[in-house]
Amino acid sequence: MPDAIIEVRDLVKTYDTGAVTVHALNGVTLDVPRGEMVAIMGPSGCGKTTLLNCASGIDEPTNGLIRIEGTDISTLDDNTKTSYRARRMGFIFQFYNLLPVLSAVENVELPLLVSGTPASEARPKALAALERVGLADWAGHRPAQLSGGQRQRVTIARALVNDPAIVWADEPTGDLDSTTADQIMTLMQDLNREQQQTFVIVTHDPGIAQRCHRIIHMRDGQIESEERVTGRIEAPEQVTEAARG
Ligand SMILES: Nc1ncnc2c1ncn2[C@@H]1O[C@H](COP(=O)(O)OP(=O)(O)O)[C@@H](O)[C@H]1O
Ligand SMILES: [Mg+2]
Repeated sequence: MPDAIIEVRDLVKTYDTGAVTVHALNGVTLDVPRGEMVAIMGPSGCGKTTLLNCASGIDEPTNGLIRIEGTDISTLDDNTKTSYRARRMGFIFQFYNLLPVLSAVENVELPLLVSGTPASEARPKALAALERVGLADWAGHRPAQLSGGQRQRVTIARALVNDPAIVWADEPTGDLDSTTADQIMTLMQDLNREQQQTFVIVTHDPGIAQRCHRIIHMRDGQIESEERVTGRIEAPEQVTEAARG
């Protein structure tokens, strides 16, 4: 598939913890075309997070091939991989927490500063990203002064501040009430539609999955089945505006 931005072939990940060997991924093959929103579902422990970590280059697979934008990422050295990630990928992971001592805008600009963007450029970009998620007025607030939904929107602004080609999200709405989760999903759909960003979203929520183009079902470290979402729920612009408020 020439237009696949993510190509995963026969991915195997084994964790050897000494006492036990865990087969987290048992041969996963997956193509994601540019601009697709794909949901990954499956019971706890089936390997969803491991798949995201390996496919995005955060973790190394035991075996198999990962090509991102045509490049076999195993051929990249650590520095190249890290800088590639900082430039082309965004992460909405639960363990990528916001830093409590930094304001919203400082949290958002951090990845830019890390990847070498001058501070004078990083600040306006971070403010624009916050505006994009409806938090322009909250730029100076620290995470503790924000609601759960607002915090997650800061996380999304941080993930999107460098205009990534691919956004990896691991249960991005897991801690949120259903209304807020819906708003967050509306925002991601909006970005996908406007900027053709590719989203890979791990979720337990069937309502979230139904707003993606495709759902991959995993079990025991493998892809069990996949389905194309028919009658996908899309958010009209005016709902998006309200959702940002
Ligand atoms: N760092 C690790 N060391 C050992 N085992 C791990 C590690 N990370 C995940 N696992 C195991 O790999 C399997 C898949 O985990 P994970 O990818 O986190 O599943 P999911 O995200 O679907 O809940 C589980 O059995 C988990 O316990
Ligand atoms: Mg997980």
